[in-house]
Amino acid sequence: MGSHDLLRGAVLGLGMMGRHHARILQSNPAMRFAGAVDPGGDRFGAVSDGALVFATVDELLAAPDGPPDFAVIAVPTEDHLRAVRELAGAGVHVLVEKPLAATADDARELIGVVRDAGVRGAVGHVERCNPALRALRARVQEGLLGDLFVIATERVGPFPDRVRDVGVVKDLATHDLDLVRWLGGAPIERVAAQTQHRMGRQHEDLVLVTGRLENGRAFNSTVDWLTPTKVRRTRVLGERGMLVADTLRADLSFYANAHVTTQGWPAMQALRGVAEGDMTRYALERREPLAVELEEFCALLRGEDGAAVVTLEEGLETVAVAEAVLASAASGETVALEPSPS
Ligand SMILES: NC(=O)c1ccc[n+]([C@@H]2O[C@H](COP(=O)([O-])OP(=O)(O)OC[C@H]3O[C@@H](n4cnc5c(N)ncnc54)[C@H](O)[C@@H]3O)[C@@H](O)[C@H]2O)c1
Repeated sequence: MGSHDLLRGAVLGLGMMGRHHARILQSNPAMRFAGAVDPGGDRFGAVSDGALVFATVDELLAAPDGPPDFAVIAVPTEDHLRAVRELAGAGVHVLVEKPLAATADDARELIGVVRDAGVRGAVGHVERCNPALRALRARVQEGLLGDLFVIATERVGPFPDRVRDVGVVKDLATHDLDLVRWLGGAPIERVAAQTQHRMGRQHEDLVLVTGRLENGRAFNSTVDWLTPTKVRRTRVLGERGMLVADTLRADLSFYANAHVTTQGWPAMQALRGVAEGDMTRYALERREPLAVELEEFCALLRGEDGAAVVTLEEGLETVAVAEAVLASAASGETVALEPSPS
């Protein structure tokens, strides 16, 4: 494929996230960079050619090389819908940063805008491209753990001061709510949650969620902006042992149950429970998740089979679960989600 056949991608919003998309679009040989839009300019120096930084979408669309094939929407979450309206309306495919929108109503409207415009869309739940989580899921699907008991995620760390429009549930826990569904193999059926507001902001800064998937599997997630060190850990416990992914380091380890020595004596086996067996840390190919995400989106646009993108409908489902988490925290009750259409 010549470089002229490569898809040209633009970035909307050159902030903490958009600057990384811009870096990859400029350096990955599998795609081309069509420019970036930010009314605040390029404050991180993310774009090497200053002529490709625009203040408005109209300027980007009128650029000499023509409109981009696709745009990455990396503006603050509450502006996703407005940005998608402008881009999709001009025939540009959209990869929308997570969470898909600030509310489930906005997310539904966004899906309608994309559908009516006849363009393709996906959500940037980038954790699904983390090598440790991809490898974890593959091993779960191969049956390494046998029956799954529980998925537990932990995503804690200091507050990134830039997030103003949403709380930790929509900004950060949406990663976890997407992951547990993806790893557990079924939509979330119910959640019970507690939140805390320790920083005096309008939005919550800590959440604890316990939930159940439609296939009966259990999960819990601990997510906050209050912990003085960053932890990103996903544990999946099953009948044969436990897989642990550290997504900051892209490490995956397996803790096997020991072979029990009480065979033929069921009462003793039940009494002693599980014993510690071998631990294996896997050697993984570590590719940057964001580059993989952009490549998968390009594969979708080229019509390739099996492009591993997160659909807009899945993105909506995750925002709806986040709203159920907030409703549960507000009421103190367990909240059931609408059953997914099967
Ligand atoms: N996938 C991830 O792990 C991850 C991590 C961080 C943020 N995000 C998501 O990325 C999005 C942006 O977050 P951030 O942390 O980069 O925010 P940020 O505040 O650092 O950057 C947002 C940028 O958008 C610009 N902007 C605002 N309105 C605009 C408009 N109409 N057109 C163009 N640019 C505009 C702002 O000037 C700013 O530079 C959010 O949806 C967030 O949830 C995802």
